[in-house]
Amino acid sequence: MRDLRISLIDQCNMRCRYCMPEERFGRNYPFLKQRELLSFDAILRIIRAAETLGVEKVRLTGGEPLLRRKLDILIARIAAETGVRDIALTTNGLLLADRVRDLKRAGLQRVNLSLDALDAATFSRMSGGYGDPKRVLAALDASIDAGVKVKINSVIRRNVNDDQILPLLKLAMQRGVEVRFIEYMDVGASNGWQRSQVFSESEILERITTEMGPVRALPCEWSAVARRYELESHANCRWGVIASITRPFCGGCVRARISADGKLYTCLFSDHGTDLRPSLAPDQAPDAVIDTLREVWLQRSDRYSEQRDAARTETTSPAHRVEMSYIGG
Ligand code: GTP
Ligand code: 5AD
Ligand code: SF4
Repeated sequence: MRDLRISLIDQCNMRCRYCMPEERFGRNYPFLKQRELLSFDAILRIIRAAETLGVEKVRLTGGEPLLRRKLDILIARIAAETGVRDIALTTNGLLLADRVRDLKRAGLQRVNLSLDALDAATFSRMSGGYGDPKRVLAALDASIDAGVKVKINSVIRRNVNDDQILPLLKLAMQRGVEVRFIEYMDVGASNGWQRSQVFSESEILERITTEMGPVRALPCEWSAVARRYELESHANCRWGVIASITRPFCGGCVRARISADGKLYTCLFSDHGTDLRPSLAPDQAPDAVIDTLREVWLQRSDRYSEQRDAARTETTSPAHRVEMSYIGG
């Protein structure tokens, strides 16, 4: 366990079709109530417990983490009350531009911004009609100005935004940040995933090669989700591909996920989480949460993406698979 990903809220101010399609996540969707969300005290206790098991990085996600009240205070407390130095945020960026300076001051070091298209109409098709690329670009520039390290995450869907790969790559090059192209995944139970909609890593690379010339892979850490590439002719042009469909990376997975209401999930595709709240109760020993984390982690045998790869079916059966907006990406 190296990477602890904490969902702060299951709500979002966008309705990306691949994640929270509006017809499933409408007005009547039973989002968690404020009182069901883990308190900051509980989050800090979980982080300190996870640290004793090896966690070095905390990533705050959602839903949209900027919708969680007092996020700057949580970040300041993580920086002051734990040993974690790599504090990162995954956000859609709509609310970030005005707040990133405060978050940086609080201790935020990195932000991964979702941006699926530069073209406004394509962005809107991906996002269910919410937000616009200008606001995300404002967040990107404000983050760079504030001295926060930025990566761009772009989910690519065939015939929806695959024409945005080159514009996104050029934007990233121009701003001096890394873009990671993500294969569309069958996460959750709502997005109606079909394999034929996946624009694969090899197709992404082919698109870039055709336009910009030969590319080569860069060495990467065994536990990295993205494989990184550069143009042979232009070493400053680098990007990543997260190919969970065509090149699963379960073998190197060091990620533990905590849902907004305090359940521990050992895989993005889990249908079951372990409630950590009982171990955090006042009558429990201080180490109870460490014991629970350790026990669940040592029993872990998840390899969903590898199994999907072996099965090679056109669709998968979501059953009770947990939503990404609930456990975070
Ligand atoms: P860095 O710390 O910057 O390397 O970030 P990261 O890649 O850990 O975090 P980020 O939230 O940006 O992850 C990018 C995307 O990769 C996620 O949103 C998912 O789409 C995908 N991803 C991350 N972890 C997993 C995983 O365990 N399994 C699968 N299938 N996909 C994952
Ligand atoms: N497939 C791939 N990536 C996804 N994300 C959300 N849902 C999916 C999916 N079905 C991405 C978001 C964001 C990160 C949190 O996860 O675009 O970059
Ligand atoms: Fe919201 Fe992110 Fe999901 Fe899009 S991918 S609906 S921005 S949580």
